[in-house]
Amino acid sequence: MQQRKLGPFSVSAIGLGCMNLSHAYGAPPSPEQGEQLLLAALDAGVTHFDTAALYGFGANETLVGKVLSPHRSRFTLASKCGMSGVDLNGDGKPVRVIDGRPETIKATCEAALKRLRTEVIDLYYLHRWDKKLPIEDSVGALADLVREGKIRSIGLSEVSAATIRKAHAVHPVAAVQTEYSLWTRNPEIAVLDTCRELGISFVAFSPVARGFLTGAPPDVAAFEAKDIRRAMPRFAPQNYAQNLRLLDGYQAIAREVGCTPAQLALAWLLHQGQDILPIPGTTRVDHLLDDLGAVNVKLDAAVLARLDALINQNTVVGSRYNDQGNSEVDTETF
Ligand SMILES: NC(=O)c1ccc[n+]([C@@H]2O[C@H](COP(=O)([O-])OP(=O)(O)OC[C@H]3O[C@@H](n4cnc5c(N)ncnc54)[C@H](OP(=O)(O)O)[C@@H]3O)[C@@H](O)[C@H]2O)c1
Repeated sequence: MQQRKLGPFSVSAIGLGCMNLSHAYGAPPSPEQGEQLLLAALDAGVTHFDTAALYGFGANETLVGKVLSPHRSRFTLASKCGMSGVDLNGDGKPVRVIDGRPETIKATCEAALKRLRTEVIDLYYLHRWDKKLPIEDSVGALADLVREGKIRSIGLSEVSAATIRKAHAVHPVAAVQTEYSLWTRNPEIAVLDTCRELGISFVAFSPVARGFLTGAPPDVAAFEAKDIRRAMPRFAPQNYAQNLRLLDGYQAIAREVGCTPAQLALAWLLHQGQDILPIPGTTRVDHLLDDLGAVNVKLDAAVLARLDALINQNTVVGSRYNDQGNSEVDTETF
C-alpha cells in the first residue's frame, strides 16, 4: 500500500474509519463481524485506524482495543475526545455531550487508554470545539497529555482556519479531520490552504459521501430509526431524489476510467494532494477491499475537471448537517 505522512507518522494512503462498526448507520454489525473487518484491514496493509470516545459511547474504542492491541506496533492509532456519551439523566441511557473542559479531556483520555488497551494514543483529536470555552483551553489540555506521554500528537476536527491558527499557536497541530469529498467542498474555502501553510495533514472523513458515491447508494426510505443520515438534509427524500440524478454521469465516468464508484470518489481525494488521507468506513470486507483499490486508480486532469464540474457545492441539493449539526461545527460553509 502506498504511504502518506500523517503528522509525524507514515501510514497507508487510505485508512479505516471504525465508527460504523459501533455507531451511525443503523444497527451495528456483530462484534465478530467487526473483528473480521478490522483484521482484514490490517492484513490488507491499512496502518491508520480512526476511532473516537463518541462511537458507540466507548464501544468502538473497546472493540478496536480488543482486536487490534495484540498488533499495536503495526499501526497508527487515532482517537478523539471532547464529545462523548454522558449519563446526564442517571437512567443508564447516555446522551451525546460536547465538553472540551481540560478535566473532561484528561478523564476521557484515561478511559480511552484503558478501552484501547494501549499506553499511548498516536493522534488524539478534539472531536468538536466546545464553543463555551476558548479553543486554547482544550488544546492546552491536549498539550499536557503530550508532555505526560499519554498521546503522541494532537488533532482537531471540524474547525475553521482561524481556530486552527489559534490552536497551532498553543501546540503544533499534526492533523485536521473534516468532511471532504466531491459533494462536501467546505475545506476548499480556507482550511486546506491553512493546513498546507502550517504543515498540517488533512484527514478526509465521510470520503464516499456516507455511501452516496458508491455502487450501492443508500435507499433513504429504508434507513433504520437510528441512522444519523435521517437528520441530514441531503438525504431528505426530496433533496436526495435530485442528488441521485448526478449519479448517472458519475457512474459513467467510473466505467470509463475502469474503476468502481467508491474508488472514483477516493481516487479524486487522493489526487487533491499528497497531504490528504481519506478514511472510508465500512462494515463489509468486500467494500473495504473495493475502497483500498482506489490507491491504484489514476485520474488525468480532464477527468478530474469533469468530476469537479459534475458534483460540487452548486450541484448538490441540501446542506450536509441540519441546524443542530451546523451549530456544533466551526468550519467555513458555502
Ligand atoms: N470527525 C468527525 O466528526 C467524523 C464524522 C463522521 C465520520 N468520521 C470518521 O470518518 C469515517 C468514515 O466516514 P463515514 O463512515 O461517515 O462515511 P463514508 O466512509 O463516506 O461512508 C460510509 C458508508 O459507505 C458505505 N460504503 C463504504 N465503502 C463502500 C463500497 N466500496 N461500496 C458500497 N458501499 C460502501 C458503507 O456501508 P457498508 O458498511 O455497507 O460498506 C457506509 O454506509 C468514520 O468511520 C469515522 O472514523 C469522523
